[in-house]
Amino acid sequence: MLVGEGPGADEDRLGKPFVGAAGQLLDKILAAAELPPGDTYICNVVKCRPPGNRVPLPEEQEACKGFLREQIRIVQPWIIVCLGATAGQTLLSPALRITRDRGRWQQKGRFWIMPTYHPAALLRDESKKRDAWADFKAVKQLYTQLLDERGDR
Ligand code: URA
Repeated sequence: MLVGEGPGADEDRLGKPFVGAAGQLLDKILAAAELPPGDTYICNVVKCRPPGNRVPLPEEQEACKGFLREQIRIVQPWIIVCLGATAGQTLLSPALRITRDRGRWQQKGRFWIMPTYHPAALLRDESKKRDAWADFKAVKQLYTQLLDERGDR
């Protein structure tokens, strides 16, 4: 499961997460890491676009938490990748700092969770791509290991 921040204008219009420029980059990264699209689920912390595309307020994140919790309950992901600080702060810790904490696995209950850069951040700053790629390679490695251990689902 990949969790972003909230829908942008394209996503709001189409009612689907990550269909704009950041989503196209995310698709490329997932394909390059050979993470099969049929085995990934992409969603957001908040379900409506905040005005002006600002970072969702704590109360907006709180209002949508039940939906995200329910998505996690239904999907039962083995791995959750937090795309950017908002998702990391929601799912790991309010104190999370993405530049400091990205790439570190945390096991929470039955889930392995890793924060990494949001693809929009990679579009703004190409120098982050190397670290993001290392993170996605680690995701692929754990995914392969879990598949070996647990078998196909
Ligand atoms: N950014 C996000 O965080 N989510 C989307 O769905 C699109 C862009």
